[in-house]
Amino acid sequence: MKLCMIGTGYVGLVSGACFSDLGNDVICVDKDIDKINKLKKGIIPIYEPGLEELVKRNYKSNRLSFTSNISEAITKSNIVFICVGTPTKKNNNSADLSQVLSVAKIISKNIKSQKIIVNKSTVPVTTGDKVEKIISKKVNKKIFSVASNPEFLREGEAINDFNYPDRIVIGTSNKRANKILKSLYSPLISKGSKYINTSRRGAELIKYASNAFLATKISFINELANLCEKTNTNIEDISIAMGLDKRIGGRFLRAGPAYGGSCFPKDTRAIVDTANQFKTNLSIIKSVIKSNENRSKLLLNRISAILKNRIKNKKICFLGVTFKANTDDMRESSSTKMIPYFSKKGAKITYYDPTGYKNEFKNFKNVYYASNIKEACNGADLIIIHTEWNDFKSLNFEKLNNKKNFSVYDMRNILQNEKIKKNNIKYFGIGR
Ligand code: UDX
Repeated sequence: MKLCMIGTGYVGLVSGACFSDLGNDVICVDKDIDKINKLKKGIIPIYEPGLEELVKRNYKSNRLSFTSNISEAITKSNIVFICVGTPTKKNNNSADLSQVLSVAKIISKNIKSQKIIVNKSTVPVTTGDKVEKIISKKVNKKIFSVASNPEFLREGEAINDFNYPDRIVIGTSNKRANKILKSLYSPLISKGSKYINTSRRGAELIKYASNAFLATKISFINELANLCEKTNTNIEDISIAMGLDKRIGGRFLRAGPAYGGSCFPKDTRAIVDTANQFKTNLSIIKSVIKSNENRSKLLLNRISAILKNRIKNKKICFLGVTFKANTDDMRESSSTKMIPYFSKKGAKITYYDPTGYKNEFKNFKNVYYASNIKEACNGADLIIIHTEWNDFKSLNFEKLNNKKNFSVYDMRNILQNEKIKKNNIKYFGIGR
């Protein structure tokens, strides 16, 4: 099939490369000419395991191409995917739809033959109706349809998530569109993925509901971890035993720092905003948002307490600063609250992350990037394992730090505490 992905960010690029790998002709479009030129040379703008190889391979075989000429890309395609950003608006919690709606206008000017427009951007329920209305001002409804196809890709695991999704959700009541999209996904369906055809509005809401539910699971276990710390119980035991109940399920029950990333914080805010517009109170999701905000404060207090509230000139080392492992994404990472806070309190901070130096910290005093783990740890009063990179799972801290007495705060519970605890090393985990 001939597809184009409008927007070559995370969703558009990963999905485009994966669709081309399934044998389709895919054009990835972006208005950022520099990005397009780099992609043509095989330079990938994001860190995502396996993506570079996938892009290069499919580009070489001419199934995948890059352009900033959106009109040409639409004209050449039967299926047009909208994959642009929907960030939180600056002045309120609603999703900013300006990019989606402006792409809809451009599409409306370039439809001359049958097209299926598929929205992959995360958008509030009823956005598909708006896109359809914009296009139908210029184009006869008989030659286009607008469907919703939310993505559920996790950063760091996106290629595997694309190829082995639990479910593929297509929101459309148009039989032709449903048939064509089902056949586009047939290589994945035949490997066992479930295909769900629902209403367009239903598909839009499924995306937000799923993310809000996962955020709820995480906040739930994070709050229980607080109780475990007070009652000397181990959150790991609670998670495992709870998760074995099939009605609950074990995934997304890992206690840690406040959840972050480009989706959960933004999408929980946006669904509450949508519900407000429809005069519906999503009190549980509101509590989750509050709980996650409180968690950031709670962990700042916990770090301060580990340092006995004497922060000035203390050396704190952060191992990992991204919001999770296997990504270079810093969006809403809890490190972006912790590092500035302790820098302002007079601590000396070094951080190491496998994805390198971060601009987010460049304006903060006494915050240094270390190019390796040893350099980051050496001399530290407190080592914080902030992100669960594999590189940090079996470190010998006594060899890495020449300081006699120091603490390790393992915010992802990746270490076996019995092994770390020594006379001179104090170990702290989450909920244990
Ligand atoms: C998420 C959704 O999982 C994905 O389906 C959606 O399409 C995009 O948003 P992503 O943001 O890439 O994906 O990361 P995810 O693995 O879901 O983690 C989000 C946050 O939750 C991270 O901060 C992570 O550390 C945290 N988390 C996740 C936990 O604290 N505990 C867990 O058990 C799982």
